[in-house]
Amino acid sequence: MKAMLVTGGAGFIGSNFIHYILSHDSEISLLVNLDLLTYAGNLDNLKTVENDPRYHFVKGDIRDKDLVEKLFAEYNFDTVVHFAAESHVDRSITEPEVFLTTNVVGTQTLLDTAKRHWKVDPEDKYSREFRPGVRYLQVSTDEVYGALGATGLFTEQTPLSPNSPYSASKAGADLIVRAYHETYGMPVNITRCSNNYGPYQFPEKLIPLMIHNAQIGKPLPVYGDGMQIRDWLYVEDHCSAIYTVLKKGVPGEIYNIGGNNEKANIEIVKLLLHTMGKGEELITYVKDRPGHDRRYAIDNTKITTQLGWKPAYRFEEGMQKTIEWYLNNQKWMERVVSGEYVKFYERMYS
Ligand code: NAD
Ligand code: TYD
Repeated sequence: MKAMLVTGGAGFIGSNFIHYILSHDSEISLLVNLDLLTYAGNLDNLKTVENDPRYHFVKGDIRDKDLVEKLFAEYNFDTVVHFAAESHVDRSITEPEVFLTTNVVGTQTLLDTAKRHWKVDPEDKYSREFRPGVRYLQVSTDEVYGALGATGLFTEQTPLSPNSPYSASKAGADLIVRAYHETYGMPVNITRCSNNYGPYQFPEKLIPLMIHNAQIGKPLPVYGDGMQIRDWLYVEDHCSAIYTVLKKGVPGEIYNIGGNNEKANIEIVKLLLHTMGKGEELITYVKDRPGHDRRYAIDNTKITTQLGWKPAYRFEEGMQKTIEWYLNNQKWMERVVSGEYVKFYERMYS
């Protein structure tokens, strides 16, 4: 792993991953971050690495074939870690089109360009030979499996059954990635992670939204009965899992990533309020999200037993760090909420 293309590196998980790689991988000589800087992309997340000589930022669109081609030709990447996506379920319900073009077509553009540059003989339709050491990693989500009832866990064999335009677009992208492995022999991996939390998360998602609202004394909007369950993972653990898959993953394999931390939304909201010394009167039950998935839960046996990864953070510890980070980085939050987010927030809850 010498020259890495990270897409969507100005977003929540991508920026945490860039910090992780630049501080953990001694071999990396170049890391290019290709990001369109949509409302979710924020270069403030990368302030401490912007002068690192190994790091290079390119503002651009993964759907722009000419740009992606130019970057591969110039930098000779051996690794692609693809985070860039439209990632918010609520936005996908009101504006599904961009989810299809970015998440599905954007993925195919990256795959096709990588294939052209990485195949030993790109002209030979029947050859399955790729340059040694190259790897494409697709960052996917447990949401492609749909929703669970009160029991059971998602394994890598669980059939895909996405329910929202967001998860359907991520499932579509996963199937294209799979097809590039099956048809061309391309060395790919797909990782499917549960809900992440931690620093630099855009405050349209549950945990940063609730911390921010509690801090400024605004109501905390809990959808439906608040008993929906998510399986929470501290973002740094997600980064270490992706790094493990890059180092040890078997080409063509899918790995589920989760930390065995199932929590109901209302439990999280109450924990945040309690930790921040705020009262529960701020909790406001609002109309439920259409098609709201009831429960997600990951079986992480494959990655823990086959690749030896395990999460480093217990939930209580990760939450404590997360709350402290948001309270200590109020400037970051202020700059975010003064942008387009506010208008979206007003449309969502008016
Ligand atoms: P995010 O919304 O915070 O960041 C997405 C980034 O992609 C932003 O920086 C944005 O500017 C960029 N982007 C969007 N469209 C682009 C385009 N056309 N070209 C280039 N850049 C573009 O998302 P996140 O929460 O960091 O999620 C990253 C990835 O992880 C996504 O693929 C998501 O599906 C997946 N994932 C997220 C979670 C989670 O809990 N957040 C869980 C599992 C999987
Ligand atoms: P979210 O952070 O949007 O992630 P995802 O939909 O990908 O799981 O939401 C997490 C859970 O929190 C989900 O069940 C929806 C719920 N939720 C609320 O109850 N209120 C909110 O304001 C938000 C943003 C989410």
